[in-house]
Amino acid sequence: MKAFPSIEDLRRSARRKVPKMFFDYAEAGSYNQETLRANRSDLEQIKLRQRVLVNVDQRDTSTRILGEKVSLPLALAPIGLGGMMHGDGEIAACRAAQAAGIPYTLSTMSICSIEDVAGAVQEPFWFQLYVMRDRGFIRELIQRAQTAKCSALMLTVDLQVLGQRHCDVRNGLTVPPEIKIRNVIDIATKPAWALSILKGRRKTFGNLAGHVKDTTNINSLAQWTASQFDPTLSWKDVEWVKSLWPGKLILKGILDVDDAKIAVTTGADAISVSNHGGRQLDGAPSAISTLPRIADAVGSEIQVLFDSGVRTGADIVRALALGARSCIIGRSYIYGLGAGGQAGVARAIEILGKELDTTMALCGVKAIAEINRDVLAEPSIATMQRPQ
Ligand SMILES: Cc1cc2nc3c(=O)[nH]c(=O)nc-3n(C[C@H](O)[C@H](O)[C@H](O)COP(=O)(O)O)c2cc1C
Repeated sequence: MKAFPSIEDLRRSARRKVPKMFFDYAEAGSYNQETLRANRSDLEQIKLRQRVLVNVDQRDTSTRILGEKVSLPLALAPIGLGGMMHGDGEIAACRAAQAAGIPYTLSTMSICSIEDVAGAVQEPFWFQLYVMRDRGFIRELIQRAQTAKCSALMLTVDLQVLGQRHCDVRNGLTVPPEIKIRNVIDIATKPAWALSILKGRRKTFGNLAGHVKDTTNINSLAQWTASQFDPTLSWKDVEWVKSLWPGKLILKGILDVDDAKIAVTTGADAISVSNHGGRQLDGAPSAISTLPRIADAVGSEIQVLFDSGVRTGADIVRALALGARSCIIGRSYIYGLGAGGQAGVARAIEILGKELDTTMALCGVKAIAEINRDVLAEPSIATMQRPQ
């Protein structure tokens, strides 16, 4: 995988190897994709201060997330249908994360089940929870995550209803793919992908199989999701989840200062400042533009994680400078997964780790704890967002 020098190279490779329906699903944002684009363009607007003649020998990128020692301020995000980018994709991604010494989050909407992953890896992983209408089933899922010794529960709070991705409608996204001429031709030109999926242990949503009706042949993912996800979800449900989960709790999908302040009162251990990678509210601000105000508002009362748009080591420095403890990556590793399975995810993590290390050196910092707003050049979003 050394031939891939950047995440963008992994992306191009994944586009060639993964059927269009699944690549588009991974790549896209909701509706007009304004928020998706803003995530990247706002990150790129933040300029870093180049510092020279500082001794930056012996740098250290390790830190702690939720008390866990990690080699990088990075975790892998929950990705629904990760196992459609590569056979047993969730296991591959989890193994790569654990080998690199960073957390992996398994999605409720994964292909491999909690038990599949737990049986295939050495260390605990995080589990992401979507609260669905059937609360009995959600209670069971939480219990399963506990039995599997998951070390944190990440409750996603920004998907009560599903933002539409137009490409999924156009492509007729189904899981497993429908036997249509167009799909058959596409898959026939992606033999390595087809083989890996055939060899994978599951072809549909592993955590839901046997519990939720119709998961073996879902006509329309969007329709099905809309029928299962619960628009009544409220802060009361956060309390309910907390009462069932004795371990660390992360609330993922906070984008507003007022919500962040409420999150603190729930007793959750962390929030992830996120707009779901631009896949939910189109027209919402970029996640990075909201980060400094949220970080300032919650102070040290709760750990602040960040996701949505991270594609480079410089992006990690930017987010840390604006108050994040750690970043979470989605597409950056999914591209690696599509490009080369476990080795591709390992390469994605390695690329970001090396870029982070070099960026730190060129900014004149040697440790993660030294990254603060002083590493930012002015003017930048950081200064625009500072409270008056
Ligand atoms: C293909 C795809 C599937 C996703 N599935 C989930 C999911 O099942 N649960 C969840 O909480 N977030 C999900 N997300 C959002 C990610 O966890 C994360 O917030 C987002 O990818 C971060 O943005 P980035 O891709 O720019 O790094 C998904 C994102 C993508 C791209």
